[in-house]
Amino acid sequence: MKILSIETSCDETAISLMECGGDLNSPNFSVLGNMIASQAELHAQYGGVFPAMAKREHAKNIWPVCEKVLKEAELFNTQTNSSISEDKQHQLKEILAREENLYEIFLNEIAQLEKPDIDYIGVTTGPGLEPALWVGISFAKALGILWDIPVLPVNHMEGHILSVLLAPDAREVTFPALSLLISGGHTELVLIKSWGDYTKIGHTLDDAIGEAFDKVARILGLPYPGGPHISRLAKIHREQFPQFEPVKKLPRPMIHTKDFDFSFSGIKTAVLYTVEGQKQQPGMTHEFVLDETTKQAIARDFEDAVTEVLVHKTMGAMKEYGCETLIVGGGVSANTYIKAVLTKKVLELNENAKVYFPEQDLSTDNSLMIGIATYFTILKQKTATSEQEINLVARGGWSL
Ligand code: KG4
Ligand code: ZN
Repeated sequence: MKILSIETSCDETAISLMECGGDLNSPNFSVLGNMIASQAELHAQYGGVFPAMAKREHAKNIWPVCEKVLKEAELFNTQTNSSISEDKQHQLKEILAREENLYEIFLNEIAQLEKPDIDYIGVTTGPGLEPALWVGISFAKALGILWDIPVLPVNHMEGHILSVLLAPDAREVTFPALSLLISGGHTELVLIKSWGDYTKIGHTLDDAIGEAFDKVARILGLPYPGGPHISRLAKIHREQFPQFEPVKKLPRPMIHTKDFDFSFSGIKTAVLYTVEGQKQQPGMTHEFVLDETTKQAIARDFEDAVTEVLVHKTMGAMKEYGCETLIVGGGVSANTYIKAVLTKKVLELNENAKVYFPEQDLSTDNSLMIGIATYFTILKQKTATSEQEINLVARGGWSL
């Protein structure tokens, strides 16, 4: 079946069209169209994502992105005599009340198209920035009305979990499985008893790990988003100094607590103190800049600290719940050091364990993962219910 999936929870406007087949144990996916319009550069100037600006950009980009995807999938055909019934016009106007530019586009452009051969539409309804989420939701609902296609709500975090299934090699998952979700907005451990049956067993009590990477990067004067920059500096340092013992190691917060929760705001503050401490040294002026080696050392110590905590808690949860499959997802799963250390440690614990990370370009936000989650929702529930139609509202704090 063909699924159109839409993701606008943060700063990427992403749409895909996938052909999905198989069952929950051996699904198969082929990508017919896929496109992401990123706002990252725009938000980078301000050092974070601004909801109102994100919403405006989504509203501007969503139809051009969708149009390209339909063309790529060869589902973009204009029809000769097009007209929308008054009833549908009325419904569209209501749904798009908050997105006036989109109402015009629906009347003047989208209504001129033949109904494409699409079976379902899936859209992220949370968690995320509500103004941003609403653009995707309103757009999806309006397409659903115009083309009489059912629309299903998708949880963004379930998308991150399922993103590992889109890999060239078939990925066998044994239950219970554990998922470690690490992104700019989330850090959580999720127990998966079967697909669709998720229990959050731990989460961060303050900053998300990606947020900590971004804040530390800022302290070191590196651009946003900071994760890749920290990682790059840490790598240079590790290559240069295989043996490393910092004068004052950064803390490993909550590493020895019995729960599966995390805390990252203390490491960030410790980095700030370290940098401030350097400035206080004799002979330093207030125009002081950190030298490259010091920056690299701090980046490395930070990456070591967060990796140690993640590994410790994840292994503890795998042991406690008897999990042999670990699924890692979210933007920070792109981190090659975390990937290498976590994989090595889990395999040391159990050589039969399976550790899955998403393909590199699927670790950050995308709509292919939302397409997979839509397909799994359909397989579990067979068909859309009216309750789901009603549930098509933004849920900024929707937890798995
Ligand atoms: O999942 P994502 O794209 O968006 C959210 O839902 O948050 O994650 C973005 C986060 C940012 O904080 C970014 O700094 C971090 O992922 N990130 C990384 C790396 N690549 C992206 N963090 C550490 N190492 C990386 N290589
Ligand atoms: Zn995400």
